[in-house]
Amino acid sequence: MTSPEAQPVTDAVAERRELVNAAIEEDLPIARPERLYEASRYLLDAGGKRLRPAVLLLVGEALTDVEPLSTEYREFPTLDKERIDLMAAAVSIEVIQSFTLIHDDIMDEDDLRRGVPAVHREYDLETAILAGDTLYSKAFEIMLESGARPDRGLDALRILARTCTRICEGQSLDVEFEHRGEVHEAEYLEMVELKTAVLYGAATSISATLLGADEETVQALYRYGIDIGTAFQIQDDVLDLTVPSDVLGKQRGSDLVEGKQTLITLHAREQGVDIDSLIETDDPEAVTEDEIDDAVSRLESAGSIEYAREKAQSLVREGKEELAVLPDNEARGQLESIADFLIERGY
Ligand code: IPE
Ligand code: IPE
Ligand code: MG
Ligand code: MG
Ligand code: MG
Repeated sequence: MTSPEAQPVTDAVAERRELVNAAIEEDLPIARPERLYEASRYLLDAGGKRLRPAVLLLVGEALTDVEPLSTEYREFPTLDKERIDLMAAAVSIEVIQSFTLIHDDIMDEDDLRRGVPAVHREYDLETAILAGDTLYSKAFEIMLESGARPDRGLDALRILARTCTRICEGQSLDVEFEHRGEVHEAEYLEMVELKTAVLYGAATSISATLLGADEETVQALYRYGIDIGTAFQIQDDVLDLTVPSDVLGKQRGSDLVEGKQTLITLHAREQGVDIDSLIETDDPEAVTEDEIDDAVSRLESAGSIEYAREKAQSLVREGKEELAVLPDNEARGQLESIADFLIERGY
């Protein structure tokens, strides 16, 4: 089985992933009660691509003249030459990611995450809810440690708080849509922006805000985050259908079993495909690979997977254009490559 830790990412992400992992150890130590903190660290330690913290750090590198990957890499010079701990912000964003995954797996009734049992399966439901809540509040504590000027620190906390509210709104729509016969593309895109893209938008805009960038730069980077984050979720929906569970580290076909509305299913419905009959059983354990393969062939024949891919490609093109606000340097190029990677990845 491929360990999600070993999931290939762009070189720029892989190099920063190691530093982010070391910082997580430092910023989120196992305290008492140990069961709570072990459960909180369990998914963080199981792997993950660390895309969002890498994007946050690369925005920092693109904006400043920090020495990439140096020994003092936690510290970044702001545009007015103060020093801040940008790595604390990167850890905070990954801690939010982990919190949302723990609660998402409870809501989606998914038992596999990052190649290991989901927290509510490895521990129990009570512990998983609490671990998620602990990570949620810890993320704010960690963000507070950036050492940024108070006005910038407050702006970063404001973005983080708004982001969490929006993720809850998006997750609520995601669940509500399971019970709706029809969802329009604009509604799907709004749901995805809220549940997923805002965390990419938070990564980029918090980085720029803490470093003292002007409002135009912050906004352009936010839009880059929203565009690539939306494309990322569309690709996640494609991968849910097409990639074996042991490569993906989560259950293949879960969205079909749960009755999720995705760009793929809503396009297929428009083409006359009877989505409700694609998968007969609603028991995730009982669904066979053959049943998923058949469903995927029907979605492919309707052109729905291709339709989703093209939408994701156009969003990535638009997102990359926003990077023109950054100086033309190596980190900007790496942010462009990450945008491409988000929709080319096969895991
Ligand atoms: C999964 O995100 C959650 C979604 C928003 C689809 P990732 O695919 O980035 O998951 P990890 O962090 O690498 O495990
Ligand atoms: C996740 O969407 C959005 C979150 C806020 C975590 P999914 O439900 O599609 O994510 P996966 O596929 O379980 O990672
Ligand atoms: Mg899920
Ligand atoms: Mg979900
Ligand atoms: Mg998914």
